[in-house]
Amino acid sequence: MNNLNTLYKEKETTKKTVEKNNASSDLIHVGFAQVGAESDWRLAQTQSMKQTFSESNGYKLDFVDCNNDQKTQINAIQEFIDNGVEYIILDPIVEDGYDTVLTNAKNANIPVIIVDRNTKADESLYTCWVGSDFVKEGLDAADWLSGYLEANGRSSEIINIVTIQGTLGSSAQSGRTKGFNASLSSHPNWNMLDEQSGDFTEEGGYAVMKAFINQYPDIDVVICQNDNEAYGAIDAMKENNLSFGPNGDIIVIAFDATKGGFQRMIDGEIHVDIECNPLEGPLVAELIQKLKKGENVDKIQYVKEEVFPAETAADIIDSRVY
Ligand code: AHR
Repeated sequence: MNNLNTLYKEKETTKKTVEKNNASSDLIHVGFAQVGAESDWRLAQTQSMKQTFSESNGYKLDFVDCNNDQKTQINAIQEFIDNGVEYIILDPIVEDGYDTVLTNAKNANIPVIIVDRNTKADESLYTCWVGSDFVKEGLDAADWLSGYLEANGRSSEIINIVTIQGTLGSSAQSGRTKGFNASLSSHPNWNMLDEQSGDFTEEGGYAVMKAFINQYPDIDVVICQNDNEAYGAIDAMKENNLSFGPNGDIIVIAFDATKGGFQRMIDGEIHVDIECNPLEGPLVAELIQKLKKGENVDKIQYVKEEVFPAETAADIIDSRVY
């Protein structure tokens, strides 16, 4: 009887182990090295990824918030490789410096999907990239400004501009800067007074705008490379009793078009918000499913994005998901 009991117990244990193994081996193991949690946009992107790569959708997600530190991010990717994840998702904090770790992933035969920001690493080192056309976003901001000034009879006025940039060296910062600044040569009356990084944070936007206000008495336009920087810049302008927004003096341009950004447009604080779409989870999952079936995927895929001037905000805000 004792022997029978032992045998029965052993069988139960084996069954449980197999069930557990089956359960975990059915899940697709994905590692995501996220930039950090610097902005509302970033939180929306994290949520999109976590919701998509859930166990109920068939995934086991290893998520690392890299706190805007590239070393942490490279270590996270190396750990994913060492742990044998099946797919790596990387949102590179900056463009340079990922070659070695991406080579390690390639040598381990782990496909790497890059999202949002891009890297300057050789294209052969990653499977594909999904994200925003940051240069186009910058060009869109310049086109909007040009149209706005023309509509207000100011197209030949001297226009003093300051830019609160995002994290230096990130493709979101370099692309938006490149796109907007490409328009300066065709607008000789646009005067870029200064460009400083606010690191895509509200505190950064506040500190940089405060310094700009102290240094430049005649600012016509502030370009904030994300919504959170715009919120900080708005606080600095309020503190200094400056008039801004669609019914004021200083023109405020922001990027991201989060729900918060829409609310600020409705509140008369931001003139225009250039969309940057963080809802990349479903698209990345589609890519993983295709790769799993051995299908080819496009190397580069842009997400759809629009320009939202303040006058459209009230009609659109309720349909915003992030
Ligand atoms: O890389 C996308 C940018 O990073 C978003 O504009 C910003 O909000 C985020 O922090």
